[in-house]
Amino acid sequence: MTYVVTESCINCKYTDCVSVCPVDCFYEGSNFLVINPDECIDCAVCVPECPVNAIVPDTDTATQNLDYWIKVNEKLSKSYTSITRKKEPLSQAEEFKDIKDKKHLLEQK
Ligand code: SF4
Ligand code: F3S
Repeated sequence: MTYVVTESCINCKYTDCVSVCPVDCFYEGSNFLVINPDECIDCAVCVPECPVNAIVPDTDTATQNLDYWIKVNEKLSKSYTSITRKKEPLSQAEEFKDIKDKKHLLEQK
């Protein structure tokens, strides 16, 4: 099992999740974060930290397009950059935090 970052993170990047991860397994792109599934130890401490509830277990059948997000985390954790400290959210975070359909805005870099 692993935990997975999903759609709600796009264009927000609050990064509260990063500051609590004991194994530093978050990776950052320009408008999204992912979790490296090979490094995540399933501790779940990041889940309540995310203000937009973007982090779910990979067994969470209530999450739309879960298989897609599992693949995105696997793939982009190989090319995104490691992030180990909280930083300012994106400037448009407030504007995007309640928008549900953001998949098409995901930036691969
Ligand atoms: Fe890190 Fe634990 Fe969250 Fe996995 S579940 S990303 S190990 S804080
Ligand atoms: Fe994204 Fe939530 Fe972390 S918005 S950066 S998963 S705190």
